Amino acid sequence: MSFSTDRPETWLACSSCGEERLETDAAVRCAGCGGLLTVCHRSPDMEGPMLRALFETRCCTRPDTPASGVWRFREVVMPGSRVTPVSHPEGNTPLLFREAIAKWAGVPDLLMKHEGHNPTGSFKDRGMTVGMTQACRVGARGVICASTGNTSASLAAYAAHARLPAFVLVPEGKVSLGKLAQTVGYGAHVLTVRGDFDACLALVEASRESLGLYLLNSVNPWRIEGQKTIVLEMLQQLGWDPPDWIALPGGNLGNTAAFGKALEEAYAWGLIRRVPRLLVVQAEGAAPFARAFAIGFRERKRVQADTVATAIRIGDPASWDRAVHAIRFTDGAVVSVTDREILEAKRSIDRAGVGCEPASAASVAGLRRLVAFGQVAPNARVVAVLTGHILKDPEVLASGSHAGGMESSVIEPTMEALAAAVELAGELRIIEA
Ligand code: F0G
Repeated sequence: MSFSTDRPETWLACSSCGEERLETDAAVRCAGCGGLLTVCHRSPDMEGPMLRALFETRCCTRPDTPASGVWRFREVVMPGSRVTPVSHPEGNTPLLFREAIAKWAGVPDLLMKHEGHNPTGSFKDRGMTVGMTQACRVGARGVICASTGNTSASLAAYAAHARLPAFVLVPEGKVSLGKLAQTVGYGAHVLTVRGDFDACLALVEASRESLGLYLLNSVNPWRIEGQKTIVLEMLQQLGWDPPDWIALPGGNLGNTAAFGKALEEAYAWGLIRRVPRLLVVQAEGAAPFARAFAIGFRERKRVQADTVATAIRIGDPASWDRAVHAIRFTDGAVVSVTDREILEAKRSIDRAGVGCEPASAASVAGLRRLVAFGQVAPNARVVAVLTGHILKDPEVLASGSHAGGMESSVIEPTMEALAAAVELAGELRIIEA
């Protein structure tokens, strides 16, 4: 099918063969060729400056506007919906500057967009509010996903809010305690699979139709629409003056696809006049996309993934084609970093009082590497996206694999013991009364 005349405001199109469908179709893949479906919007009625002004009137600090940093942009996310969004709310995450981290990375003009400040502690909430709203629009009787942990926590929280039963499949022994505890706490059914994330995703994709459940992994095109708002909100915070680079971790590559789509639309609709370059960072043990980038994307790579950054422990990323498109459109780069570099970056981020989970630190580690190689100029303006909260992965701190470990000392409850411990720390500066 193709909407040749009277195009609706929003529709779905297959990113491989172009086949078009109604926006309320519950499928995530094309029935004909199996390609992933993408949400397409007609150009908004307003020009760029008017659209920017509209988003400005909905700034989060005003009491009379939607509190969500996702639904503030609804004209370019899900304009046609009449249902009340399933919103906690989410978004409105800070853009942080810390001199110590900028110095560590080698870029003085480095800001961090901290998506760990979302309600369940990761960027997934931005996609989930839109995906769960779509689940309600299509009358889903339940929802399902495969996850390395953050998607499951987010799905569980939003499904509870929407009063829908939720099922999550997670790889055995490879999900951090913080994420599992959240998912169970929010009331989802957790199924631990004897296999890795790639096996979990293949299983939910194959079964979701026969089970009659709505699939909410980032292969779902509405997840991508929500995650676009990380970029839109960042651009708004920067007065619509884009940075030179945006660095982000890459796993299943849904976020890479979302960032590329956000930038392509923002440019086409006059919200920005220049397109920033995307820097996607993978862990060396889970870097099929970085390997393919190194050979000009001539072939698709798959690997058996392993890394300390369990969130991005993915060997066969689902959003491959749209991520390749995002890198090409933004003249971007893809790089991999070792677990050691990830943990060093995390230490720098944690010690600055910002904190993040290991996968998030990959963005700063990758940036440092490209600065060292001269591929990112030291005077570049860069935003690194921190995708998850420090409390997501307490084991990595406790295990000591975080350079330095927990560094906690046990003392007797006496003033002498306390004084000795403070003396031992030896870091006290004189505080003037
Ligand atoms: N950072 C964090 C903290 C994540 O949880 C993920 C993905 C990524 C980065 C990578 O994003 O997949 O869009 O390239 N986590 C998924 C999950 C896979 O199940 O929670 P991506």
